[in-house]
Amino acid sequence: MRVRKAVLPAAGFGTRFLPATKAIPKEMMPLVDRPIIQYAVEEAAASGIDQIIIVIASGRSAIEDHFDSNASLERWLEDRGDIEMLRTIRRISEFGTVAFVHQREQLGLGHAVLMAKDLVGEEPFAVLLSDDVMLNPGGEPVTKQLIDAHLAHRGSVVAVQRVDRREVSRYGILEPLREEGRVVEIRNLVEKPSVDDAPSDLAVLGRYVLTPKIFDVLEQTNRGAGGEIQLTDAIRGLIREQPVFGYQFEGIRHDAGTRLGWLKANVAVALESDDADEFRSYVRGLDLRD
Ligand code: UTP
Repeated sequence: MRVRKAVLPAAGFGTRFLPATKAIPKEMMPLVDRPIIQYAVEEAAASGIDQIIIVIASGRSAIEDHFDSNASLERWLEDRGDIEMLRTIRRISEFGTVAFVHQREQLGLGHAVLMAKDLVGEEPFAVLLSDDVMLNPGGEPVTKQLIDAHLAHRGSVVAVQRVDRREVSRYGILEPLREEGRVVEIRNLVEKPSVDDAPSDLAVLGRYVLTPKIFDVLEQTNRGAGGEIQLTDAIRGLIREQPVFGYQFEGIRHDAGTRLGWLKANVAVALESDDADEFRSYVRGLDLRD
C-alpha cells in the first residue's frame, strides 16, 4: 500500500536547547532561512507524502501559524512587488494537507505518535523527527529510501546508521537477525546500551515507516525510561508480531536538537544554499588555529 501520510512529532520540551526553546519549539529554530520542521515537511513531500500530521504541544501555536497562510504579509509583499518572496511564503501553506493534533501532556515520543492514530487510520505511515535533519544533496530523500524499502520488504522500516562504538549509549541500538546490503532484519532493539552491552553499532535515527499495528502496541506500552512512553519500546513489541527492518540510508544526519548539532546543520545547509560561495570563502578565511 502506498505511504501517503507522515507524522511529525513536535511537542517535546527541547530541554537540550534551553533557553532558546523556552518560548518556541525547537522545531521552529531556523536552519539558515527556514525553521527546522520545514525541512522535514519538504522531505516528506519530496518522498511522495501528501498528508502531514504534526503533533504539537497544547498552547504552542508557532508551528501551526508557520504553515498557515498570512494574508497581511502576502498583501504587503505583493504591494512591494517582491514576487519571489511572495511565492516562497505561499509555497509554505501549500504542502498538501497539513493537520495538527495536540499532545496535552509530554508523555514521550511514543505517546506523541499515538496522538495521530485516528488521523492515520489503518495504513502504513512515515514518522519524521524533524530535529534529526537528514541531508542527501543530489540523492533520494531519506524518507523516500525508507518507503521504497518498506514496499520491497513489506514490514516496518527504521532508519539506521553505524555510529562510533563509544557513542552507542546515546542511541537505540539494534541487534541484527540477518543483513543483506543496506537492509538489516532486526531481532531486537536496546535503548542506550553501555559500550559492552551493545549488540551492534547500528543506531536508530529519526525516520521510520511503520505499519498501523504500532498503534495497538503503543496502547499497551507502559511508561519506560524517564517515565515516558517510548517509541523504541513499542517497536520492540512490534518485532514480536511482525518483521521490522533497519535500513542503512544514504545521507548525513545532524542532531539539530543540540547546540553543536544545530551549528553543524547550519553549516551544511549554508554550503548548499544560494550564499554557498560567499560562505565558503568566509569559512576559508577564518583563523582556525588553537
Ligand atoms: P526528544 O527525545 O528530542 O525530546 O524527542 P525533546 O523533549 O523534544 O528534547 P530534549 O531531549 O528535552 O532536548 C524526540 C522527538 O519527539 C518529540 C520531540 O518534539 C522530538 O521531535 N516529542 C518528544 C513529542 O512530540 N512529545 C513528547 O512528549 C516527547
